[in-house]
Amino acid sequence: MKRIRVAVLVSGGGTNLQSIIDASENGRVNAEVVLVISNIESAYALERARKHGIDAVFISDKKKKRREHEEEMAEVIDRYNVDIIVLAGYLKMFTPFFIRRYYGKMINIHPALLPLFGGEGMYGLKVHQAALDCGVKVSGCSVHFVDESIDGGPIIVQKAVKIEEDDSAETLAERILKEEHILLPKAIELFAEGRLKIEGRRVKILKKSD
Ligand code: GRF
Repeated sequence: MKRIRVAVLVSGGGTNLQSIIDASENGRVNAEVVLVISNIESAYALERARKHGIDAVFISDKKKKRREHEEEMAEVIDRYNVDIIVLAGYLKMFTPFFIRRYYGKMINIHPALLPLFGGEGMYGLKVHQAALDCGVKVSGCSVHFVDESIDGGPIIVQKAVKIEEDDSAETLAERILKEEHILLPKAIELFAEGRLKIEGRRVKILKKSD
C-alpha cells in the first residue's frame, strides 16, 4: 500500500509531531511527514522537523487577513501533494475557505474527551483545569476531523485517562499527552489504510477486510 504524505501544522513544542515522525520512521504508520508549517517562527516543532530532514516552513500570520494567510498556506500545502493535514497543537482558527478545501482530509488532536472541554479558548492547561473544576473522574484525548465548528468535527478515536485524587492541571496534561502520542499515529494509520468513513456526525472504522 502507498505511504501517505502528511503535512503537520504546529504552533508549539511539537511532541505530537515527534510521535508522528517516530511512528513513520519505525514503520508503525504507513505515512511520511513531508511538510511542517508553523505560524510561530520560534516554534520548537520546526526545529524537530528539520532535524529529521523534513521541510519546515514558517508562514507568518502577522499583518494580514486570515484568508490571506490561509491562501498562502494552501499554496504551499498543495505543492506537496499531501493526503492528509494533521493539526498538532496548531493554535489558530480557520475560516470556512480552508476547512472546506480540506474537509475529510484534515484532522486535529484535542486533549479531552470531546464534546467535553472543547471549543473557543479551550487549549493548553485550561482544558485540564476545566475538567478538574467540573469534577469528572475521567478525561482523555480525541482525534477528530476538522469541520467549521471548533473542536466539534466527527470523532475518529478517543482514549480515556483516569483522573487521580491529587491531579493538578499539569500532572493530568502530562498523562494525557503520553496517550496523545499513541492515539494520533493510530488515527493516521487508520486513515492511511483507508478505513475511515465519515457518515454524518459519525466516523465508521472499517474492518481491515471491508
Ligand atoms: C496537545 O495537548 C494537543 O492535544 C493540543 O495541543 C497540544 C500540543 O502539544 N492540541 P505538542 O506541541 O504536540 O507538544
